[in-house]
Amino acid sequence: MDKFTVLKNKIEEALKGGGEKRIESQHKKGKLTARERISLLLDEGSFEEVGMLVAHRSQDFGMENEIYLGDGVVTGYGTVNGRLVYVFSQDFTVFGGSLSETHAEKICKIMDLAMQNGAPVIGLNDSGGARIQEGVVSLGGYADIFHRNVKASGVIPQLSAIMGPCAGGAVYSPAITDFILMVEQTSYMFVTGPNVVKTVTHETVTSEELGGAQTHASKSGVTQFACTNELECIDHLKKLLSYMPQNCEEEAPVYPYEASDETRAALNTIIPDNPNQPYDMKEVIDAVVDADSFLEVHKDFAENIVVGFARLAGRSIGIVANQPACLAGVLDINSSKKGARFTRFCDAFNIPLLVLVDVPGFLPGTDQEWNGIITNGAKLLFALSEATVPKVTLITRKAYGGAYDVMNSKHIGADMNYAWPSAEIAVMGAKGAAEIIFKKEIAEAADKEAKWKEKEAEYGELFANPYRAAARGFIDEVIMPEQSRQKLIKTFTMLQNKVATMPRKKHGNIPL
Ligand code: HXC
Repeated sequence: MDKFTVLKNKIEEALKGGGEKRIESQHKKGKLTARERISLLLDEGSFEEVGMLVAHRSQDFGMENEIYLGDGVVTGYGTVNGRLVYVFSQDFTVFGGSLSETHAEKICKIMDLAMQNGAPVIGLNDSGGARIQEGVVSLGGYADIFHRNVKASGVIPQLSAIMGPCAGGAVYSPAITDFILMVEQTSYMFVTGPNVVKTVTHETVTSEELGGAQTHASKSGVTQFACTNELECIDHLKKLLSYMPQNCEEEAPVYPYEASDETRAALNTIIPDNPNQPYDMKEVIDAVVDADSFLEVHKDFAENIVVGFARLAGRSIGIVANQPACLAGVLDINSSKKGARFTRFCDAFNIPLLVLVDVPGFLPGTDQEWNGIITNGAKLLFALSEATVPKVTLITRKAYGGAYDVMNSKHIGADMNYAWPSAEIAVMGAKGAAEIIFKKEIAEAADKEAKWKEKEAEYGELFANPYRAAARGFIDEVIMPEQSRQKLIKTFTMLQNKVATMPRKKHGNIPL
């Protein structure tokens, strides 16, 4: 056989992965192959494979006779909308995509390249975990990946799509990356599967219930996105990338934007007359940002806070917003963690932050206290406080108590703070405040209810407005709601070249 034919045959063999039968079985499960996924993700013709001919070195259990070129993972680089990315895609048709020593080496190689060249890494995960035939060598391979994930954190964006099983220690690499996307019905993540759970805790649970996309999107918060199928998942990956820079030294790409009438009259009537009535903060977001540019992150988890990416005059911003339509927008453990993690991503990658505030305070109760609302609430405070990207706040209605401080107040380093005339910036709501400070007068009054109402109105008049805070300069300007978009565009443009640094240190100690 001539040398060219030898090469051609080897490439053909590698492209077949685990063979036709296994590919068919993969398709029957509603899953694409590793290569099909890559071709959907990357710009046409841009994929360059690295390590196609790598083979495992295992000599046990007859493995020396079972060699598949590429060893269960397709690795390389290419472009998404013209921008360089590195990618690894696990091939379930080869030993169930399980991770061998060489499989791990391939992933590490492209992670090293990504770090040296400052571009995102995307992992398409579909794996039965550690290659059982290889034992500790495989565990070492996982740890080599984890260590790189940690070193790369905050340097280059790392995105993980879970498109099949992801069990055991395998879940920890995605967990360290910036975003996880799961596919409903065909992917799951857990440390131990239903059989082990049954033995240890006697619980009966399906894989889907234990660690499916919906479970992790709504209950645990492990995944930021639950996608209905693989195409949607890949589409989300591309969309997410469009808001991010290539690395921590760069800015996110700017998209063309045509200025038109930026006034948003509908915002003037969005706040209900009754301060206890909810409204949807997402309507405020949509009215403020560029049309259709809002990409919500962690949509189904801790819905009392909304986080996501958007564009303002073509530039990426990150939004952290209380959601009065859910639990009155109260801050609790999960919403604090959700807001903090998103804030830290934006800060690490130079994405300015817009914080929209309508918050009645922190959620009281034994459940919250015993599970550490103090430590967890402090995460959001810490994250917003340490962020050095441009930080802008808009208070639409309530900003009460400690939550006022936490939600990007001037005092923790916000650059510009705006409020609508409907803002109530105070220690607490007027009703509760009146009950405490006028306790005696209310108790002594003939008509207690009427007295309470009178005192509530008195306190409300004095404090349930933005003007005390504005008089101190804690609020830079009280604006008409309809002006919000114009004002924010101008503000973020003004802050574009902001330089701020934290004191020299090894790293902070965020209350984990
Ligand atoms: C080697 C594996 C494998 C593994 C699957 N295969 N998992 N080979 N090591 N871990 C092989 C199977 O032998 C089979 O080979 C092919 O992949 C497809 O597997 P099936 O079982 O036929 O597929 P399916 O029914 O879809 O089930 C998929 C599965 C199951 C749920 C992933 O295979 C499974 O439970 N595998 C073991 C999972 C596991 O316990 N992994 C170790 C976790 S501990 P053929 O030749 O028939 O195609 C771990 C520690 C990491 O990962 C620690 C890091 C710190």
